[in-house]
Amino acid sequence: MIVRNALDAAATALAAAGCDTPKLDAEVLIADALGVDRGAFVIEPEMAVSGAAARVIGERVRRRVMREPVAYILGRKGFRRIELSVDPRVLIPRPETELLVEEALGLPAGARVHDVGTGSGAVALALLDERPDLVVSASDASAAAVDVALANAARLGLTLDVQVGRGLPAGSFDLVVANLPYVREDEWAGLAADILRYEPRAALVSGADGLDAIRELVAQVPAGTRMALEHAPAQAQAVRTLVRDAVTQRDLAGRERVTVGRAG
Ligand SMILES: C[S@@+](CC[C@H](N)C(=O)[O-])C[C@H]1O[C@@H](n2cnc3c(N)ncnc32)[C@H](O)[C@@H]1O
Repeated sequence: MIVRNALDAAATALAAAGCDTPKLDAEVLIADALGVDRGAFVIEPEMAVSGAAARVIGERVRRRVMREPVAYILGRKGFRRIELSVDPRVLIPRPETELLVEEALGLPAGARVHDVGTGSGAVALALLDERPDLVVSASDASAAAVDVALANAARLGLTLDVQVGRGLPAGSFDLVVANLPYVREDEWAGLAADILRYEPRAALVSGADGLDAIRELVAQVPAGTRMALEHAPAQAQAVRTLVRDAVTQRDLAGRERVTVGRAG
């Protein structure tokens, strides 16, 4: 088999399965299986695919046809400058969450930042990578997620203080960042199969209006402490009412995604 045929067959199968980006997914999965960069497909569309590689590709396409996310199939996801190991114990980090990292980049050296609901460790580890002069800690209600975050820290050679717990642990922080669950209960069943079948519900859903975990955190944070809270665009107005001096940041698509303000 040649790679062009493998790509065409995979993209056709993924499109039929309802994947949003079938061609891209096929390229990413096949490039990784062959150990090449996607650019190689343009230069060498007649590249030979060995029998062993064809079997790996077939298995990956089968998993993606079931709508398993590409990041879980490959076991990794890029986030800012780092690559994180991910599996169904943790949410796959999303690009809009990079706004939380950006919010902390302006802090002075030595500032203390805590990442609540760290999941894979994405926000805390990206911060440690880019700003080793900050004092960064993290926590998550899920012990399984904390295991993933600790493994990511070790693999990246970063030292992260991570603990299991709901909301904010005891301590004094200059900035609390949080991408907590914010999907409404009634939205869950309507989410894409990629999310619904594979990502952890407890990482996504938070009560009737999606704001239970955020409200619980805001109530815990000492008055005056700065917070940066990720939310759905439709929740921006409600989140602004929960903090003082609220300012909402937009993602690259112009949607209101992170509200910054002070507790109390
Ligand atoms: C939306 S995921 C975000 C994960 C990671 N911060 C990211 O952006 O990729 C939410 C995370 O918060 C955790 N979580 C849910 N409720 C929590 C709570 N009340 N306190 C702390 N963590 C919580 C979940 O276990 C999950 O790992």
